[in-house]
Amino acid sequence: DMGGHDTYMHKEIHEQADAVDRVLRGRIDDRFSTVHLGGLNLDAREARQIRRVKILGCGTSYHAGLIGAQMIEELARIPADAEPASEFRYRNAVVDPDTLYIAVSQSGETYDVLAAVQELKRKGARVLGVVNVVGSAIAREADGGIYVHAGPEVCVVSTKCFTNTTVAFALLALHLGRTRDLSVRDGKRIIEGLRKLPGQIASVMEQEAEIEKLAQQYAEARSMLFIGRVRGYPVAREASLKLKEVSYIHAEAYPASELKHGPLALIEPALPTVAIVPDDDLLEKNRAAMEEIKARSGKILAVAHQHEEKADQTIVVPKNEDELDPILMGIPLQLLAYHTALALGRDIDKPRNLAKSVTVE
Ligand code: M6R
Repeated sequence: DMGGHDTYMHKEIHEQADAVDRVLRGRIDDRFSTVHLGGLNLDAREARQIRRVKILGCGTSYHAGLIGAQMIEELARIPADAEPASEFRYRNAVVDPDTLYIAVSQSGETYDVLAAVQELKRKGARVLGVVNVVGSAIAREADGGIYVHAGPEVCVVSTKCFTNTTVAFALLALHLGRTRDLSVRDGKRIIEGLRKLPGQIASVMEQEAEIEKLAQQYAEARSMLFIGRVRGYPVAREASLKLKEVSYIHAEAYPASELKHGPLALIEPALPTVAIVPDDDLLEKNRAAMEEIKARSGKILAVAHQHEEKADQTIVVPKNEDELDPILMGIPLQLLAYHTALALGRDIDKPRNLAKSVTVE
């Protein structure tokens, strides 16, 4: 049942305010400015002993993991990184008992992720799952975890599960932070930010008509570049994946800081750039990157917290706490990918060559 939408992708994009409400529900503890995650199976002493966090997932779930790793470093001050599970399982990685491993999967059935979990468990590691489908293989195999409660996602292209997974990571980062050195005051600040998300997502949806107009222009592009820096970079990567999966337009994501080390050579009027420009301590650096692109006659669409002079067009998204900004900044780009694919007449819910869950090697 598509509930009045023409595609599941459109329906699922529009379900995100409610979905985020669900992942937060019953978990916030205002008294101690923290969150309760019932299924984690990790007591405070164990949480304090973690020396590193390694997040494993594929595709969009890997990108959610990149955002999660940054949140864990920022809020809990634990060194964290994400890696494609498909790479990790083949490289005979060093498995370390003081590292917390986290497997991320919407379906909970992705074979590369499951195989990585099994290999980790065989070596005695502790593995948590961040999963959408309750009772799925990865959820069962993990020692504990967080359900992201996005509800069923039918479209092959993941949207609401990505957003909910990033929120689940914010909850985990806050929880780990508050068992370590995150102050009550910062805990409160993050909780307030989390509570604002559903309303802010609803306000992004109100811009759909303008985003649709932009998409009609971008549908003519043969290739697009997505750039971001630190918090914006994983957002750029996910937006680039979304566009290529559903519209078949070639897209590439780059850290804005790497432009001058190569990709600037590509810039010309026919290669549009989407720049993720949060209003944080790197704003001026990002503006300088846009300047470099403009100086070479590149067209720029900015996703930012205010109108950006240097860009040809700006999609303005509501500002949240700096650490939580990545959650919202990708959402208008889901709409951009959707409307670009629609303008090109693509098979939106079932892009060619792809399957919803990749249960083979
Ligand atoms: O079910 P999973 O989250 O484990 O799936 C992982 C990827 O296959 C998946 O995210 C894929 O990249 C999607 N088509 C993204 O839209």
